[in-house]
Amino acid sequence: MLSLAARRRLAPVSVRSYGFPRKPFNPEAAFQLTDPPNSSWKPGDGANARWLDPTIPRKSFDFTQLGSSDAYKILTSAIIPRPIALVSSLSADGVPNLAPFSYFSMVGHIPPLVSVSFSLSQKRSKHTRENISATKEFTVNIISESFVEAANCTAAEAPASVDEWLLSGLTPYPSTLVKPASVMQAAVTLECELYFLKDLSPPNSELITTTLVLGLIKQAHIHESVLADDGASVDPRKLRPIARLGGTTYSRVLEGFDVERTSWKTVKDAYDGILTSKQSKENP
Ligand SMILES: Cc1cc2nc3c(=O)[nH]c(=O)nc-3n(C[C@H](O)[C@H](O)[C@H](O)COP(=O)(O)O)c2cc1C
Repeated sequence: MLSLAARRRLAPVSVRSYGFPRKPFNPEAAFQLTDPPNSSWKPGDGANARWLDPTIPRKSFDFTQLGSSDAYKILTSAIIPRPIALVSSLSADGVPNLAPFSYFSMVGHIPPLVSVSFSLSQKRSKHTRENISATKEFTVNIISESFVEAANCTAAEAPASVDEWLLSGLTPYPSTLVKPASVMQAAVTLECELYFLKDLSPPNSELITTTLVLGLIKQAHIHESVLADDGASVDPRKLRPIARLGGTTYSRVLEGFDVERTSWKTVKDAYDGILTSKQSKENP
């Protein structure tokens, strides 16, 4: 364990605030359901009123010309919120590694796949990438509010010998089907086996700048305290997941609303009406 003095010496992460005033963290805030933005929406209504003033121009970013840090800034702030995988892996020599990745998504449920991708610089490879490539196994641990700082700390670009479990204060516990440990503090853990790994380069370049990994989920472990009443799904009120926005910003999941899935049967007549009125306007 790190001494208290050593823990105190660890600098807090830098903070970006978008120019908004910052309020104290509210531990009481909890996920709640609200009505949808427009409960009386009907087919053909489009967006709700006063969204995107058409007189304001769009600023275009040409990705064929954009430098890597500008592309990073635009994409990581625009494609939000992103779920985050806290990935535990082992090197070929058995050295444990822990790091967060927000280029992370569910790919499908049959087969049950997640994707994680690694941005590679020429200066330093990502140990997680090397480990998964070598040992073909990892665990994905979903980060909740109560250990976001510890999870964030594992992103330190430390030498491969550094044990991020020790650095973060997170606790490993044995996985069932794979060798890398799971994170005890994570209420949701996924044991994964490497399914696909592809190194990617920009067009007309040989340089490998990204590696895409797909992981096949062998087993999921859900702490029973975060299960919904059906016992077969996770309750966001209990999970308190966090997501990644641009820069160093994280977000909480505090409100949700339901919008029923559209069934073609129930909207077919409305669609026919919209089509007829469009045609009669075009050919009066
Ligand atoms: C919230 C968060 C999300 C991150 N997402 C990614 C990501 O998706 N891909 C990536 O290559 N690095 C990402 N990073 C940076 C890595 O975590 C960082 O480079 C880390 O040192 C990699 O650890 P490793 O070399 O031990 O694998 C992220 C960092 C943070 C704090």
